[in-house]
Amino acid sequence: MSDRTTRTIVIDPQRPDASVLRLAADTIRRGGLVAFPTETVYGLGANALDRDAVAKIFAAKGRPAINPVIVHVSDQQMLRHVVTDWPANAQHLADRFWPGPLTLVLPRTNSIPDIVSAGGPTVAVRMPAHLVALGLIREAGLPLAAPSANRSSELSPTRAEHVEAALGGRIDLILDGGPTPNGIESTVVDLTTSPATLLRPGPISVDELRQVIGWVQMRAAVSSAPLPSPGLLPRHYAPRTPLHLFCDRASLTEAFAKRQPVDCVARVLFGPAEDDDTIAMPTSVNEYASQMYATLHTLDKQGYSRIFLEMPPDTPEWVAVRDRLTRATGGASLKVR
Ligand code: TXA
Ligand code: MG
Repeated sequence: MSDRTTRTIVIDPQRPDASVLRLAADTIRRGGLVAFPTETVYGLGANALDRDAVAKIFAAKGRPAINPVIVHVSDQQMLRHVVTDWPANAQHLADRFWPGPLTLVLPRTNSIPDIVSAGGPTVAVRMPAHLVALGLIREAGLPLAAPSANRSSELSPTRAEHVEAALGGRIDLILDGGPTPNGIESTVVDLTTSPATLLRPGPISVDELRQVIGWVQMRAAVSSAPLPSPGLLPRHYAPRTPLHLFCDRASLTEAFAKRQPVDCVARVLFGPAEDDDTIAMPTSVNEYASQMYATLHTLDKQGYSRIFLEMPPDTPEWVAVRDRLTRATGGASLKVR
């Protein structure tokens, strides 16, 4: 796979060029792999109905077969082709949040190959809001299986250059639609349980979900979920450089002062920078999320021995961001103080 030529084509995120979408859709129909921007992160797409095409996604990412992938649809008809059941709760959530960064887990039809759902009885579906993603699905006339376009367990890509660095030579085409607006992966909700279960926190908060469908339980409260959701495994979304999290500025500063002379430590602060050697992160959730992975990608390239990061506050609006940062350290070795 690593001897393929990967072509990158720039595409306008607001008014995607129809001829570029056609070319990308042809690649999908021929069983190829196309990375494309969504409103969350870049996805690595293949025809969700073609098991061999989806197998190429797993090979390119080095993704374990136990991790199912999300299927992206552009309309109700396509949706009905992939799920057997469309309960009222699904309709209410779709009315409110689709197209958008919400993924629903529902029973799958026989059209969905085992490899997409890791052999389980369900499929995760979402209708993305990004015009390049929607345009590509429509033009292909096929549902797209698309995990994030990174190597398995590494940082998600929020820019085409992140995709190129991770998957260049392994995939056919990258549509470069610029930085992705949300910057973190969709909220994943399992609607096959009663009440519904939040599998992965994301841009749509659990409170917003509860306003539409009532009680939603957190996955931690469920001991026998039918399928693991590896996006919730302890180590995921990780930079290569070891990351240490601090719950306040003082503890970060203290640890920094005690570092060994050979230790080259990057400091990522919540709010304004202290000096030229520190990185300031925004204090608004949306801006923070949209910059988070790009900041970690950049630091990874700069050869630091460690990254010290001051955590955003432990309040509901920061749940999804804190979830990704915590997983980026590998839960067990958590350094939150
Ligand atoms: O924002 C997003 O969701 C991005 C863009 C490209 O759409 N995609 C993404 O895909 O983050 P991926 O594969 O990196 O994460 C999918 C998550 C994983 O945690 C996976 O375990 C879970 O969804 N998932 C997929 N199918 C599932 C299923 N049938 N049941 C439970 N969890 C599922
Ligand atoms: Mg991923």
